[in-house]
Amino acid sequence: MDILPLYSLLLSIFEKGTVMSPRILVAYASVHGSTAGVAEAIGKALQIEGYSVDIAPMKTVSSPGDYDSIVIGAPVYMGKVVGDVKKFVVKHRDALARVPVAAFCIGVAPLGKDPGDVDTIMNIFRTALAPLEPVDVTMFAGKIDMEKLPFMHKWIWKKMDGPVGDFRDWEAIGVWARELPRKLGISAEP
Ligand SMILES: Cc1cc2nc3c(=O)[nH]c(=O)nc-3n(C[C@H](O)[C@H](O)[C@H](O)COP(=O)(O)O)c2cc1C
Repeated sequence: MDILPLYSLLLSIFEKGTVMSPRILVAYASVHGSTAGVAEAIGKALQIEGYSVDIAPMKTVSSPGDYDSIVIGAPVYMGKVVGDVKKFVVKHRDALARVPVAAFCIGVAPLGKDPGDVDTIMNIFRTALAPLEPVDVTMFAGKIDMEKLPFMHKWIWKKMDGPVGDFRDWEAIGVWARELPRKLGISAEP
């Protein structure tokens, strides 16, 4: 039997990425929408690289075991990573233990003015993710839109004299996203 046509067919399917393309889930939590925007940007960058990507609030994810890799993203409020992360990790403990995971958190700490320093927040984030040991964990600067904050958050932010604006660095976010497949061990390239 001549297996060359079959081999060619499989190769072309592989090259088009229709069957073999690894599936990635970008699961995020977001209170005011800026982490959702970062999750979308990461997902889109991975899609452009040819990966099959779903982007979803982690609260709505039922089967993370369907994916080859998972990216977890969440914002920091008052020195804590939002509780959805711990709930997600506990609920899907077994599925998450079987796949490579990367994670990012969002806050204003990278701007170098309070609240909190990046190293402390990263340790808090790693603790929330435990026992997962992500292949990479990072923190990006987020966004504060005073118009959209509820009264209590606005009051806290004014009292703290916190920075206001959209500080999301789309270039840095894109660079991190494009490096993910290699770090997650799912890249076709060496
Ligand atoms: C009340 C309040 C508390 C915050 N606390 C922190 C903090 O402790 N550390 C930090 O780095 N950023 C802090 N931030 C900044 C948020 O993490 C940032 O605005 C982020 O982009 C919010 O993400 P989201 O829009 O997805 O909810 C705080 C923001 C508010 C409004």
